Amino acid sequence: MPPVLDPQLKRVLAERIKYYNQLGIYDFYRRPVVESSTIQPEQREQMNAKAVMAAGPEENIFEAAVTKPESTAADPAKALAIIREDLGDCTRCKLHKLGRKQIVFGVGNPRAELMFVGEGPGADEDEQGEPFVGRAGQLLNNMIKAMGLRREDVYIANVVKCRPPGNRMPERDECDTCSPFLLRQIAAVKPKVIVALGAVAAKTLLAINASMSDLRGRWYGFRGGTKLAVTYHPAFLLRDPRQKKEAWKDLQMVMTELGLPLPNRAPE
Ligand code: URA
Repeated sequence: MPPVLDPQLKRVLAERIKYYNQLGIYDFYRRPVVESSTIQPEQREQMNAKAVMAAGPEENIFEAAVTKPESTAADPAKALAIIREDLGDCTRCKLHKLGRKQIVFGVGNPRAELMFVGEGPGADEDEQGEPFVGRAGQLLNNMIKAMGLRREDVYIANVVKCRPPGNRMPERDECDTCSPFLLRQIAAVKPKVIVALGAVAAKTLLAINASMSDLRGRWYGFRGGTKLAVTYHPAFLLRDPRQKKEAWKDLQMVMTELGLPLPNRAPE
């Protein structure tokens, strides 16, 4: 017979599961339950909790909360709207109290074949509520145009949805807290190709720590058959325009993958 869980503990666990769901975490794994007469009562309670996960559906406290809310939405625009709603007026990490004006969710074609992922909003984005609308955004627009596409054709999002103060890089805990929402955006849009703009996006999406020179110039397999390429962040290209030709090589690799015609001349 499955062990019966203390109702109070059951409530606490259900709350925690709901919290994980809000972060986009829906898959839970069970460690084997160890039988021992020497375990402490506190430990036993924890083990009971795990045992409940192993129990039949009648004991499954995750029952009501195991599917992602957007998974029933066939329309990617609806799925994105559900994810945005889930994000709410987010206070999950410290960025919410460090001067953000608004959450910058994402913009573009919900059925885009190409998705760009940046780091996090800057001052202009925080002001306007849209990613890549400042100087770096102007350069990104030019890069998109050089590929023969319009900004409205692609989907653009960031790893963190709130502006880090003073335009500092988002910190690890902020990326970890916010990235489940990015992963859900990607799952909703189902792009053929993701271009990670800069090291923060690349390292977050690929979960590897490497230099930009090691990360660029090759394809990575991502979830759901999506391919991922890494290129320089437009803000870096504004500081070091000599690297634009390297970024153009990365974009040409993407264009070939998407079947877009390559122009004879590199963009200015
Ligand atoms: N830099 C980013 O990484 N994202 C933006 O939205 C703007 C600037």
